[in-house]
Amino acid sequence: MSRRILIAGNWKMNMRAASAASLAKGIVDAVGKNSPVEVVLCPPAAYLHTVSEATAGTSVEVGGQNLYPADDGAFTGELNAAMLTDVGCRYVILGHSERRQLMGETDACVSKKLHAAMAGNLVPIVCVGETLEQREAEETEAVIEKQIRGSLEGLDEVRAAGIVIAYEPVWAIGTGKTASKEQAEAVHAFIRGLLADMFSPGVAEQIRIQYGGSVKPGNAAELLAEPNIDGALVGGASLKVEYFAGIIAAA
Ligand code: G3P
Repeated sequence: MSRRILIAGNWKMNMRAASAASLAKGIVDAVGKNSPVEVVLCPPAAYLHTVSEATAGTSVEVGGQNLYPADDGAFTGELNAAMLTDVGCRYVILGHSERRQLMGETDACVSKKLHAAMAGNLVPIVCVGETLEQREAEETEAVIEKQIRGSLEGLDEVRAAGIVIAYEPVWAIGTGKTASKEQAEAVHAFIRGLLADMFSPGVAEQIRIQYGGSVKPGNAAELLAEPNIDGALVGGASLKVEYFAGIIAAA
């Protein structure tokens, strides 16, 4: 089954309005029309409107980096799925390892956010990944299985087909130590098998599994050539037009 490659830029807590607009416009120009690759920009919430304006009418999509799973109300500092769609988002990153580590987000918390995202017509990009200690202890598959089963709790087959999983080994994020194509493909294949067991082989074949963790123009092609790697979730390299465009071109 051919799955359309999805390249997403997670800008994390970076940029200002002017640089966000300039970066978005540069990526729009680089991507052009009729791109075979699906491209999503995920700026900080403060600049979602800026980036939506810069990408309006183009093939480049916008995504949030998080959401709070509730309708409007007394949740100071938070924003929900309706607000993300209101400013033009189609995607939302959930359960990023930085939020799991820094904000104590659990699989159960991610599951609540997943259901709120899908109820709000957003495509969730659900992040999972092991630490170096867990990999060295040969716990990678156990950790990934726990995170996926917990984060996708309560998801039915129909909705499952529409999600994205991002495998981001924590030890590769921001370190320059990219997983080898063999390491990444092994975990992606494990995830594909787990999804087939949780839902069905047909649904598992539809779900796109991105790799994230020090993806650069120089390593993107060999990673994206692997059969179970359907895209990339890019951090640092998404902050420069030339680097992010190089990753898109390599797909
Ligand atoms: O969400 C993507 C991010 O965690 C990867 O970061 O800088 O290693 O590409 P980076």
